[in-house]
Amino acid sequence: MKNYLSRVDKRILNVIRNIGRAADRQGLRAYIVGGIVRDIILGRKNLDIDIVTEGPAIPFAQSVAKATGAKVMVYPQFGTATLQWPFGLRLDLVAARQETYPHPGALPQVRPGTLKDDLFRRDFTINAMAICLNHDRWGQLVDEFGGLSDLREKKIRVLHERSFSDDPTRILRCVRFEQRLRFHIEPWTLGLLKQALREEVIPAINGGDKRGVDNVKPPRYFTEFKKMLAEEQPQRHLTRLKALGALRIVDDALKTDFHLLKQIQQRLSQAPEDIACNRWLISLMAITGTMSGAKLRSFLRKFPFRKEESESILQAARSEHVLRKLSAPKLSRSQAYGILKPLHQDTVVYLRFRVSQKKVVQRVDQYLRHDAGTRIDIDGEDLKRLGVSPGKKIGTILQKVLFMKIDGRVKNREQQLAAAAALAAK
Ligand code: CTP
Repeated sequence: MKNYLSRVDKRILNVIRNIGRAADRQGLRAYIVGGIVRDIILGRKNLDIDIVTEGPAIPFAQSVAKATGAKVMVYPQFGTATLQWPFGLRLDLVAARQETYPHPGALPQVRPGTLKDDLFRRDFTINAMAICLNHDRWGQLVDEFGGLSDLREKKIRVLHERSFSDDPTRILRCVRFEQRLRFHIEPWTLGLLKQALREEVIPAINGGDKRGVDNVKPPRYFTEFKKMLAEEQPQRHLTRLKALGALRIVDDALKTDFHLLKQIQQRLSQAPEDIACNRWLISLMAITGTMSGAKLRSFLRKFPFRKEESESILQAARSEHVLRKLSAPKLSRSQAYGILKPLHQDTVVYLRFRVSQKKVVQRVDQYLRHDAGTRIDIDGEDLKRLGVSPGKKIGTILQKVLFMKIDGRVKNREQQLAAAAALAAK
């Protein structure tokens, strides 16, 4: 029988081998499950490892931690545990469970179950396979629902007809896997997806639920939507959502022309690696930029954005004047710094990839790569020693010295002190 673990990275293999041995010692069964199995078979990188045990997961996780030197965190209220190894691997453990949905979109009720129950509660056949870690069946695939043949035939298929109504966030997941893997949603599943859309099982976050049955809260859609926006070509995912009439799951007011998003993604994919950003946030800026002020504010209230995220989105939506200033024929480095410094890093990165004007791109690059992190070598105490009395003037002088350093007019501490003294004397 084929051993599906022969392709796994050595360090990970070592860890899961230890998990298999610990499971044998404790007399329980342990499997890796879900997305990681799909990705092992497809040969795609994935460091997100989920383990399901037939038997209690927490004491098992604690014994694995002891045997392997991993850090363990336990969540007794959910019966789950997370193990972490110093080289960056994270592993979630949970006991096999059954789920029932009291009504569409509600949070599921959970009971202990077998591995098969646990696989059956999952979204798509390609995500509903497991690989055994115990010695007697090491590396063997458990494929109860035809996931392997669907993977080979590039099909996205739900396991049962209530899948989308149980959990409407799966509509977004369905499109995401279809587009990411370049698979297709097979006809029965597509029919069910469209039916779920027609029946308004999806909420209507934007206007109240007509049937009063949907409990899926915007944050759960948002988590899935963010994953979609962080994919390599989110415009393909959104175009497909739009064609299915499913964009409204997220918001009616979203821009439906993804040209700018496509352009930004193309530029981003060719960008130097040292430009750090939140990809999903940059994508979101590209599709919210033309929303009216009121719609954008209500969009930002609807989802659980962090404060700096919503500020960045608002800054991006109001960035025309920033771009105008940055395209001035003459602009010193410190002037560009003064324009960009009040913006969050993600907004600056968005602007960098939004514009095509070479001069502006160079100015923003200069800022991101060199100037944004510039520090001077003098502080308020130095200025007090020069006789400047505490107050606003100190800040003003320090900023001028910083600008001089950015423009290369002062270099070391000595030159900065001299410049500060001259400014203080004015
Ligand atoms: N899952 C599900 N229904 C959901 C979310 C998750 O059935 N609404 C199951 C699937 O089996 C999935 C697993 O939980 O494979 C893990 O979920 P997640 O980490 O969100 O997805 P991955 O499949 O690992 O996808 P990705 O590669 O994007 O992380």
